[in-house]
Amino acid sequence: MAAPSDKMATIVSLAKRRGFMFQSSEVYGGLNSCYDYGPLGAELKNNVKRLWMDAMIREHENIEPLDSSILMHPRIWEASGHVENFTDPLVDCKICKARFRADQLDNAVCPQKPSKNPKSCGGELTEPRSFNLMFKTFMGPLEDQSAVVYLRPETAQGIYVNFLNVMTTSRQKIPFGIAQIGKAFRNEITPGNFIFRTREFEQMEMQYFVKPGTDAEAFEKWKAIRMQWHLDNGLKKERLRFSEHGPNELAHYAKAAFDIQYEFPFGWQEIEGIHNRSDFDLKQHEKFSGKKLSVFDEESKASYVPWIIETSVGCDRTLLTLLVDAYDEEVTQGDGEDAGPRVVLRFKPRVAPTKVAIFPLMKKDGLPERARKIFKDISCRWRAQLDESGSIGRRYRRADEIGVPVAITVDHEAGSVTVRDRDTMKQERISEAALSDYLAKKLGGI
Ligand code: GAP
Repeated sequence: MAAPSDKMATIVSLAKRRGFMFQSSEVYGGLNSCYDYGPLGAELKNNVKRLWMDAMIREHENIEPLDSSILMHPRIWEASGHVENFTDPLVDCKICKARFRADQLDNAVCPQKPSKNPKSCGGELTEPRSFNLMFKTFMGPLEDQSAVVYLRPETAQGIYVNFLNVMTTSRQKIPFGIAQIGKAFRNEITPGNFIFRTREFEQMEMQYFVKPGTDAEAFEKWKAIRMQWHLDNGLKKERLRFSEHGPNELAHYAKAAFDIQYEFPFGWQEIEGIHNRSDFDLKQHEKFSGKKLSVFDEESKASYVPWIIETSVGCDRTLLTLLVDAYDEEVTQGDGEDAGPRVVLRFKPRVAPTKVAIFPLMKKDGLPERARKIFKDISCRWRAQLDESGSIGRRYRRADEIGVPVAITVDHEAGSVTVRDRDTMKQERISEAALSDYLAKKLGGI
């Protein structure tokens, strides 16, 4: 069994080698904690986003999608409390000048060689100072305080300020939700663990507006729904758990919060937050904008400001979780090209970036043409790839390593092909005419 750090290093290396993710600006030496998604990563990300949005808007008739802008009125971030409260406490070492999070000193290492924990290096640390995590920029030609705008640190606020727009135009009634996927930016002090914590990332957030007094029930309902989504994506049950925020851990807006945590090789970590944000955000926006954000209750003939249950999951963090969970190494007895462990990403078909691999047994006798025809027939429904080079064993290995659930080999037997299941490695011969039905059964309609 590989050590946890080795397992992460192996997964990161596979992700780079096979084109899931690349360091941003690599040819310039890289930009710290920013990543680009290669062909397989982009496809995996698209699948995750589609699965999340479908789980929201197709499975719930009272949830609407939204795509709000990243740049918003700067007063929004004053109202939300982010200008004042979205901070980390920082200390500087007076010797090496490195900067650390005061609340994470136990796990910190200084940049000196050999590196030490800042508590034990002997260097004096400054008093903690608050460091705001929001990225600032300027809008328009002036670079002064009046032109400051922020890159949003969460997508949620774009939903709150559009809450009445969406409700009235979509003719929804409380309770209803708004779902949004989009980029968020945080000037994290300690980014790391590959794409786990980065400075630019995507969030998938749903805000569910409810009548006060029904919030606790909605909170429990969404906790269960969100946990099930991760299970449906194939994550192992024993590596998932809820973790409740204690009173000192709650964000400034939260009345109650649970994280869904996953057991990574580097320990249990949050992958999603489910928050009861009370009426904090809408009341703040009422106060700062001077506009009413209340709804009229037919039953009691009174107006009220809805409470909000939020589900917030990182898309990039979901990808890392899926990669870690799917990674498997199988010891094999083979020799030659079958020697060494068989590396398999055991993605569920709905998640897998490539669903089908097609191999002509030889590059002659019309086999590549037949393979290409099959590719053309199925690739409008399922993401497929043709692989013509190397031995069949090697091609299976390449497909397993990126998690392709089904491989099809085209040989000399006209009218039929061999299909091979990634997980059982069982091969069976089926007629070409039955291929589409076979794949639909195996992969679903995706
Ligand atoms: N709107 C609420 C909110 O933003 P959060 O707990 O700060 O809550 C929600 O973030 C989710 O966003 C996290 O569970 C995580 O999946 C993701 N996330 C947060 N910061 C991140 C970062 N720096 N890099 C990658 N993902 C991040």
